[in-house]
Amino acid sequence: MKSISNSSLPTFLVETREEAERVVADEIASLVRAKPEAVLGLATGNTPIGVYRELIQKCATRETSFARATTFNLDEYLDLPPGHAGSFRVWMQRTLFAHLDLAPERTNLPELDGAVSGNAIDAHAVAAHYESSIRAAGGLDLQILGIGRNGHIGFNEPGSSRDSRTRVVQLHATTREDAARSFGGIEAVPVRALTMGVATILDARRIRVLAFGAHKSAIVRRTLFDDVSSECPSTFLRGHADVALYVDREAASELDVVRRSRV
Ligand code: PGA
Repeated sequence: MKSISNSSLPTFLVETREEAERVVADEIASLVRAKPEAVLGLATGNTPIGVYRELIQKCATRETSFARATTFNLDEYLDLPPGHAGSFRVWMQRTLFAHLDLAPERTNLPELDGAVSGNAIDAHAVAAHYESSIRAAGGLDLQILGIGRNGHIGFNEPGSSRDSRTRVVQLHATTREDAARSFGGIEAVPVRALTMGVATILDARRIRVLAFGAHKSAIVRRTLFDDVSSECPSTFLRGHADVALYVDREAASELDVVRRSRV
């Protein structure tokens, strides 16, 4: 693993994504061992899967227990029936929660909780409640994060402000395209979601960002070097007091430091 950034976002180049997954999982495990009641910010998608695999392994071998930890996911779709196979709750259950010793009542997503969806007032109340629940839990100790191809973090799409909080958002076309496969077609992808805000994410004490694959190379370059602005919400990560970005060679391929030299 090599430090490669000359940006205000510390960046590490790994030879394989597994290397980054191990580093981040080890960090989470150390945190939970030092502070069993740690509050973890979780993400869905392709990016964090290997980190979750490592955490499951650590729990299975009793190296780490998550029994007293609390989790808050970044986001959840709106307007899906409860238990829908495309929901992030179902995905988290299948991918992580079912395999860890987490207390189910301390696994949180910004979801309508079985309420009939489509009611704007309910969704806004859930958003406000999510913010206060994170605060009441003591704040996020460590947030795991992927970056969308359009620069979104959570579902904070381009246009999201630095001071945004958990709220209802409309999903962008690229976000819906990227989700189309899990819904069997773009027309089935919800148009709205609840997401932690940019400020909610930046309040996390530590943020660990992962980006793997050539399809992330442009957004990695933009995250590190575009002007910091709502046009590319991932640029807001720069300047956070304890953030690190892990990239594989493909995701780093548009960075000059990697292109010009064999780092
Ligand atoms: P991915 O998505 O992990 O599936 O690449 C990242 C994101 O959209 O935040």
